[in-house]
Amino acid sequence: MSKELIRLSDCVMAYDDGVVLDHINLYINDKEFLTLLGPSGCGKTTTLRIIGGFLSPTSGDVFFDGVRINDVPPHKRAVNTVFQKYALFPHLNVFENVAFGLRIPRTQTVEQGKKTLTRKVKLSKQEIHDRVMEMLEVVNLKGFEKRPISALSGGQQQRVAIARALVNRPKVLLLDEPLGALDMRLRKDMQNELKRIQQEMGITFIYVTHDQEEALAMSDTVVVMDQGKIQQIGTPEDIYNEPKNAFVADFIGESNIIDGIMRADGVVEIFNRKFACLDKGFEQDEPVDVVIRPEDVDIVDEQAGQLRGTVTSVTFKGVHYDTIVDFYGFKWLIQTTDYCPVDSRIGIKIDPDGIHVMKKSQYSGLFGDYSSYSEEYDEIGDADFVPDEEEGSGHEE
Ligand SMILES: Nc1ncnc2c1ncn2[C@@H]1O[C@H](COP(=O)(O)OP(=O)(O)O)[C@@H](O)[C@H]1O
Ligand SMILES: [Mg+2]
Repeated sequence: MSKELIRLSDCVMAYDDGVVLDHINLYINDKEFLTLLGPSGCGKTTTLRIIGGFLSPTSGDVFFDGVRINDVPPHKRAVNTVFQKYALFPHLNVFENVAFGLRIPRTQTVEQGKKTLTRKVKLSKQEIHDRVMEMLEVVNLKGFEKRPISALSGGQQQRVAIARALVNRPKVLLLDEPLGALDMRLRKDMQNELKRIQQEMGITFIYVTHDQEEALAMSDTVVVMDQGKIQQIGTPEDIYNEPKNAFVADFIGESNIIDGIMRADGVVEIFNRKFACLDKGFEQDEPVDVVIRPEDVDIVDEQAGQLRGTVTSVTFKGVHYDTIVDFYGFKWLIQTTDYCPVDSRIGIKIDPDGIHVMKKSQYSGLFGDYSSYSEEYDEIGDADFVPDEEEGSGHEE
């Protein structure tokens, strides 16, 4: 079983102009790959800096292995950081950049009888050599040890930065948007590399990104943040399939988010029509937000549809078409391999497990409409829909 390694307990960070972290409660297990995900300014770096010891929370506690470490300085924490700007030493070669931290004598405390002695210890030349070479192998830079930093690509420099951070054998590596400077292709390669390194070395990674795809691809656990608050913590599958609120649903992947009313366990009403769903435990007639993912909508003949609408735009995406469909003034994104031309009338069906019901929140009404995809932007005001008899008949559950 994984064991808890780090805990943030009720951490608040406040500056003169406001609260930046609002009662953060979070634990991180040993050997876990945990990602802090959220838009710019939501508090990811601040959280990471508190864990690294570069910042002290205004209130709240930080624990490492059960011990409160609020007052422990960064270099005494079993934690190392890789920044987006890797800050390598340009005048040193690859080997010396990685060896740098190992050459600094360490203070060691030893108990001798009743006395505690401190002494400086230095690693031997051989040991430094072996550890650097081992790390260069881990990051796939064997043979590069004599290269000057200036002769490396961005991806190779990032690997050096990672080797330098890992060579001290931290228990935890903090990574703040470490792939932000790399192009798309290299990012993907490095995502796989980082995941492999983390698993191979059995180290806890706390990773910061604003890129949801990156977070889903790499993490054991994703922490979604907005406005200094944790919005949801879960596995990538949890937060994709069971978003807690409209913010998470919108931030993670594409989502149609529609007003609904929970009529009973397993029955939600959208656009005055009842749909079977798997959600339970809401009040009867509770207003809710309903998420429908673009890939969970089946296009059928107009007459056979649970809802009927008009296609307003189609974009070919390689694997599927992004098809925008107007339902009574509300525009949905549907991803389908069926080509439906603009202006065609279509019906849709949604299986119960394609519908996800969420509590109303401060984010309700802000996200989840795809009107801006369409040229007929003017029509969004037209959302007060009352179904007419003809369209409403025969499609109730
Ligand atoms: N020293 C500071 N003084 C005042 N505000 C700060 C300070 N550092 C960060 N902030 C604010 O805290 C918020 C969160 O910042 P940050 O943690 O860097 O966000 P993220 O890494 O998610 O982009 C931002 O609004 C930022 O402007
Ligand atoms: Mg940041």
